[in-house]
This record gives sequence, C-alpha cells and structure tokens, in this order.
Amino acid sequence: MSKIKQNSPVLFFYNNSKKWLMNISKKESFHTHIGVIKHSDAIGKEYGSRLMTNKDKYVYLLEPTMYDYVMKIQHGTQIVYPKDLGYIAARAGIKDGQKILEIGTGSGSLTSFVASIVKPRGHVYTFDVDEKFMKIAEKNIHKSGLSKYVTQHNLDLKTSKEIPVTEMDVALIDLGDPWVVIPKVRQMLKGSGAIFAICPTMNQLEKLTMALVENEFTDIESTEHIIRNIEAREGKTRHSFQGIGHTTYLCFARKAFFGNTKAKTTKAKTTKAKTTKAKTTKAKTTKAKTTKAKTTRKK
Ligand SMILES: C[S@@+](CC[C@H](N)C(=O)[O-])C[C@H]1O[C@@H](n2cnc3c(N)ncnc32)[C@H](O)[C@@H]1O
Repeated sequence: MSKIKQNSPVLFFYNNSKKWLMNISKKESFHTHIGVIKHSDAIGKEYGSRLMTNKDKYVYLLEPTMYDYVMKIQHGTQIVYPKDLGYIAARAGIKDGQKILEIGTGSGSLTSFVASIVKPRGHVYTFDVDEKFMKIAEKNIHKSGLSKYVTQHNLDLKTSKEIPVTEMDVALIDLGDPWVVIPKVRQMLKGSGAIFAICPTMNQLEKLTMALVENEFTDIESTEHIIRNIEAREGKTRHSFQGIGHTTYLCFARKAFFGNTKAKTTKAKTTKAKTTKAKTTKAKTTKAKTTKAKTTRKK
C-alpha cells in the first residue's frame, strides 16, 4: 500500500480536462472552480483514494505517470506527444541501460520520457543551442524526478567539430534541418544503432531520407501516428468531436555498413584521427559548456 506524504507527487483528478499535478506541501492549498483543495487533506491517504473540496466535489488522488508529466509540461517549444513517444520507444527498442543522444532538447518532453525508460543504468545526453529552452527543459526534467539520468549540453552539433559522445544506442533528432547532422550522428552511434527524427513536414522527410541513404543507414521508415478518442457511453458510443490534428511525421532508420569502396576506408581512417583529437579538446572545453541537470537544479 502506497501512502501519500509530504513531497509526494499527486495528480488531483476531477475529470479529463480538470486535473492538477503537484508535489504535496503541507501548508499549501489551491482554489479551483470545484472548490478549495488542501494538500494536507491528502497526507496519509492511499493513492487512488479521494478527498472532498469545500464545495462537496470529489477529487481523486492519483500517482502521476510519465503521460501526466508530459501532458502537464511547461511549453517553451513544440513537444513530442505520447502518441509518438510510445512508437519511438517501441520501434527503436529503447530499454534500461541504453545511452541516448538527443539533438534539440526543446521543452524536455522526449528527454524525460526516454530517461524514464533507460534509467537506472542508462543515460540521456541532450543538446540544445537555446539557453532559455534549456532552462525550461531542466525544470521539466527535474519535476518528473529524472535529472539524475540526463546531461544537458549547450552545444551546436551542426557547427561544432567535437564528437562529445560515442557508442550511442539511439539518436533522437528534433531540429528544423535534421539532415545536416546525419554524418555527425553516424559517428556518435554504435553499429546498427537507431535514429529517429521528428519532422513536421514532408519536405523534411524527403531531404532527410536522402541524407540517410548517403550516410549508409538502412531500414528507413517514415510514419505518421494519428490518435482518435472514442466517447464510450451506453447506447451512444462514438468518436469524440475533439482530437489532435497533425503534429509531426517520424522518420526511423538504422546505422549500417554498406561495404562500399576503398575510398570509404580512407575516409573512415581520417575521421577516426579527427575524432580522437576532438575527444581531447572536449575534455578541456565541454566542461564549461555542460549544464548538468543534476548540479544546477533549483529544488
Ligand atoms: C521542437 S524543439 C524540440 C522539442 C523536444 N523534442 C520536446 O519534446 O520537448 C526544437 C529544439 O531544437 C533546438 N535547436 C535548434 N537548432 C539546434 C541545433 N543546431 N542544435 C541543437 N539544438 C537546436 C531549439 O532551440 C529547440 O529547443
């Protein structure tokens, strides 16, 4: 039996459109259209039980899931939604212990979701160029209790010569021009490692696919995921009038070795030399640029 105590995360659930995600703080209460809800009333109760507001309305005390955290995330940017998150995890085979590269942290929705799967032995290395978004992501990742499994870097992998991480199991790219980073991502992925790019338009899918073929990726697949809510009630079950329209397309692929020409071998050797150099430079420079979610978090 899991009881709610000071600092426990709770989703106060009235209905699908009225729900509040908070950490319990004894002295806090909040005002809603269904009355005042006092945090102290939740302490000692079991998850799943309910409490009554001063307007005699019941609110259920639910243990938050990653879905709840993602849906309540503070938005600095567009985010990746649960309908796509689940497919990304399944198709790329994301699991505990893996090392994940992410380019374009944004608000940290995808970051948090993936961290919740690779923990406790795995880690997410996420890169962004915008410090304002990085701060929002840092807060969101912290709220979902996953800071320990995420390292945020303020680095532009499109222009940087560094190869800051290697042997990644999966690379996730959410940028306007993902094709630009494909050669670099290839160097950071392990053999047969998976790549997923979030592409809101078909033009992006086309350019990306060409870059993937050029850079020896296989199993390339582009998809769109549509979710339709059903309102199920006795005698009048039907599709909901509301629903999410287009959000994004997803492009999946895996790093392969096409076994091409001698020229390629020479190229590979040159790249390796450069990589080693970049690694040494990294030791000197990355430290200052790296914001470890762990060390800079506020609470
Ligand atoms: C759409 S958002 C990513 C949203 C994220 N996937 C989520 O679920 O919250 C795109 C992000 O890419 C970042 N970005 C743009 N160019 C970049 C670059 N060259 N390197 C790293 N990040 C970049 C932007 O600052 C922005 O935060």
